[in-house]
Amino acid sequence: LYEDPMSQKRLRAADETPVPRSLSARAQLYERVFPQYRQPVEVGVFSLDSQRAFFNDSRQLRYYVDPGNKPKFNLRDGYRDRFVKRDDGVKERLDHLLRWIVANRAKLRSTHVSSSPCTLGVDFVTWRGHLTKLLTTPYETQEGWLLAVSKFGGTLYVSEVETEAARVNRENRTERHEEMMYWGYKFEQYICADDANGVPDRGGVVNTNEAFCTVVQTRLAEHKLLFSGEVDCRDKDPRAPPAPACYVELKTSAEICTPKQRSNFHRYKLLKWWAQSFLPGVPRVVAGFRDHDGVVVSVETFHISKISQLIKNEYNCWKPTVCMNFCSDFLSFVKSVVKEDNPRLVYLFAWEPHRDVTYTVHRDSQYTFLPDWYIKELTI
Ligand code: A3P
Ligand code: MG
Ligand code: MG
Repeated sequence: LYEDPMSQKRLRAADETPVPRSLSARAQLYERVFPQYRQPVEVGVFSLDSQRAFFNDSRQLRYYVDPGNKPKFNLRDGYRDRFVKRDDGVKERLDHLLRWIVANRAKLRSTHVSSSPCTLGVDFVTWRGHLTKLLTTPYETQEGWLLAVSKFGGTLYVSEVETEAARVNRENRTERHEEMMYWGYKFEQYICADDANGVPDRGGVVNTNEAFCTVVQTRLAEHKLLFSGEVDCRDKDPRAPPAPACYVELKTSAEICTPKQRSNFHRYKLLKWWAQSFLPGVPRVVAGFRDHDGVVVSVETFHISKISQLIKNEYNCWKPTVCMNFCSDFLSFVKSVVKEDNPRLVYLFAWEPHRDVTYTVHRDSQYTFLPDWYIKELTI
């Protein structure tokens, strides 16, 4: 029985085209053939320095140094005295990516035939992390999301808004949780060198303001996408394949001691790891499994292309096709709803677990996120 995931009750636009009001996120509705997903192409990179300043280059790119498979890294080292934490209360929205677009517009237009000289030639501009949330939505039971969308110059810009629940969680993290968030970054420091011939500096400061980001272009079904994502490091071999195939994602996770823990790892962690790296075409994740005291007891490589095989024995497990079809249908839903080209108009798409995706409309509100400097730059 076919059920239309887009509900078209009541609302009709002025031109009488029915505008859907909601979108279901039930996984079963998205079990169909895998949608077309064009191989992501890196169109540029940028860096954010220790003070979160933007640079249109790869100065923050780091190089992977093989740690061996039982490195015994102490992830707690330096938490008190060699840690500079990014202020996550500061909302940067799409600003860094917009800065990249302004600095690289010529590049974008030369590779894409677009209808008008002031358009970018893409349907959506967003962060990879926002797309990761969309991919995992049909399986998410804990956290909802809010995505603000504005149409400008024919392109739909998608920028996350922190939910009330997420803000409360962020402002009430336990000391243990705060420290465990540091562990992931400390693991990166043990494995990454600043130069292709260098060694990791485990005695240095961990500063989470620093980032290296790739900007990729791809297409999901009929949706042309331009998005950026942070990249942990790259293969140091100069003969490695070109980006994004040379990139390596680093992760930490609790060591797996029981079948139940293995099952949970497959069901929840691997879904997030797969979604995050599949989107930009990063081929592998190097995972450090740590004990309760933050000591890395083993290191294992996961190839993104093999993850769907790895989870196939799990009963009622997640499916990549459901993730990609939901994302594609959500983007179609957004296209059908957001018709007015106006950077001050925001459509706020909201989703909570066990509910449908719905939206509200906001004119000149707190949700407006495209900065004046960007609108000026692109209008001239
Ligand atoms: P781990 O994932 O290894 O624990 P990323 O792996 O995406 O490069 O992120 C690096 C680290 O940032 C993570 O390391 C984690 O500590 C922290 N981090 C990333 N996303 C987070 C989130 N949504 N909430 C809390 N911490 C996060
Ligand atoms: Mg990272
Ligand atoms: Mg990582």
